[in-house]
Amino acid sequence: MITKYQRVNALYPNIMVLKCAAEIIQEGGVVAFPTETVYGLGADGFNEDALEKIFIAKGRPMDNPLILHIASSREIVDVASYISARAKKAITAFWPGPLTLVLPKNPQVPDQVSAGLSTVAVRMPAHPIALKLIKLARVPVAAPSANLSGRPSPTTGFHVLKDLKGKIDMIVDGGPCRWGIESTVVDFTDEIPTILRPGAVTREMLESVVGQVIYDPGLKNKQVVPKSPGVKYLHYAPRGDMYLIQGDNSQLIVAKLKELIQSYKGNGKRVALIATNEIIGMIDDLKLDFNLDYIGNLGSKYEQELIASRVYHLLRNCDRFNIDIILTEGLSEEGLGAAIMNRLLKASGNKVIKA
Ligand code: TXA
Ligand code: MG
Repeated sequence: MITKYQRVNALYPNIMVLKCAAEIIQEGGVVAFPTETVYGLGADGFNEDALEKIFIAKGRPMDNPLILHIASSREIVDVASYISARAKKAITAFWPGPLTLVLPKNPQVPDQVSAGLSTVAVRMPAHPIALKLIKLARVPVAAPSANLSGRPSPTTGFHVLKDLKGKIDMIVDGGPCRWGIESTVVDFTDEIPTILRPGAVTREMLESVVGQVIYDPGLKNKQVVPKSPGVKYLHYAPRGDMYLIQGDNSQLIVAKLKELIQSYKGNGKRVALIATNEIIGMIDDLKLDFNLDYIGNLGSKYEQELIASRVYHLLRNCDRFNIDIILTEGLSEEGLGAAIMNRLLKASGNKVIKA
């Protein structure tokens, strides 16, 4: 299959290109497009054959449901059968934006979208290209992240090209995504809203609008099955073996990192370090003395938004440099940090080393 590839200005998108992309979706094809979180792989959410193409292109397990993307909050009645008062408040506060609501599904939503569940996930993205494209397609657009299943989510058009060239109809490249990690997924079907996947809309932000919000116990406790099917898979993972080095004292973290780097390098491994600017600054002559194969600078620990936007790109770079061992600094879980650490823990398969 030949994949059409078009660059589009994110703020003033070329309408002819988006019309072409919308037509492909209407005709049952699949198109990758930017959102403010990560790139999505979109198809007509009511066309069963088109939905199947998403699963095939990504190599995605069929029991992992999709998010439906809409261009106006009025369209929510096409996909959900009931919207609680709390859900309405969250929509008013956070849409368009990086918040996905899980709601009782409208019976006309195909089973492939909901993977047989009685609920449906729905989001109105804030990206001008995504909004315009959904509007032109005139259907709810089902869109998972536009990566091969198991790989880090794509935050640039080039990442999509690397994963899906030849497997999908079109890539609309609108440059890098603002947030760089996927939306917060919140289940509103119970009395107390439950965060199934943390994201840029934090628990604190949600609680200021809808009252008490809890985290799905399955997120942290491995004995409990997560409520969001996608969360159970090894995800966002680079090919190398990744470890998170966690501790409260930066001197101890640095000492532990040096010890690990030396030992892995001594065994002939290709080793990468992913850390904040502060920690990297504390290790003298990183490249020279330790002969590291890759250093991924997340940015300052005080700039969580920058860290979020870089993390998947740095994980992908580890694959480009054929890294065997990825040593990553554990970060604060405050605010946006909860979502960043959720992705890092998953990418590492929960391999944590205490410093
Ligand atoms: O930011 C995002 O959410 C991106 C962009 C493209 O919008 N999309 C995205 O989709 O991350 P995906 O398919 O990679 O992740 C969707 C997550 C999965 O963990 C899936 O299991 C969960 O949402 N999900 C979807 N429908 C659900 C439902 N009815 N109940 C529980 N979890 C659901
Ligand atoms: Mg995904």
